Amino acid sequence: MRTLCLYYTRTNTTKEIMENIAKIIGADVAEYTDGKDRRGFLGYVGACFATVNNTISKVSVKGDISLTSYDRVLIGMPVWVEGPCAIGRALIKKHSGDMPSEVYYVVTHMGDKRDYSAKIKAMDKLLGKPSAGQVSIRTKDNDYIKDSNAFAQTLI
Ligand SMILES: Cc1cc2nc3c(=O)[nH]c(=O)nc-3n(C[C@H](O)[C@H](O)[C@H](O)COP(=O)(O)O)c2cc1C
Repeated sequence: MRTLCLYYTRTNTTKEIMENIAKIIGADVAEYTDGKDRRGFLGYVGACFATVNNTISKVSVKGDISLTSYDRVLIGMPVWVEGPCAIGRALIKKHSGDMPSEVYYVVTHMGDKRDYSAKIKAMDKLLGKPSAGQVSIRTKDNDYIKDSNAFAQTLI
């Protein structure tokens, strides 16, 4: 089974998690982005603004990646303003037609509110079909590599 782990990252945590999962399950990895530099405080404020005002529409996967050549895609996305980030949602909307049948959501978040399941599940509307599974992983004060190891084991 060919698997692709996609991630958006602002401060590299989601990248680290998706690379770890990919290493365990033997998947390819690629980054997706809206092309904006969102580093630093101004980047954070811009990300909040873009989320609240829903202004993100341009998104692309870096590198020469054909989603249709995979059997399974895992989409890593940080939580921004209490839900999976707008860039991830834009990616799902843009590529709903060429995503493989098995799509998983891997959502990372800083706070201890762990139940993002309803908001994550709501992304199936953008996807246009039921996702295969989801996990949300806390990244602050938590061994997130251990949590991502546990999730990866469920995919083997
Ligand atoms: C604009 C913005 C809003 C965020 N909102 C939340 C939030 O509502 N709840 C939460 O737990 N974490 C929130 N975070 C924290 C990130 O979800 C968390 O730090 C994530 O692991 C960062 O992943 P990254 O390093 O790959 O960018 C927010 C981060 C940003 C930049």
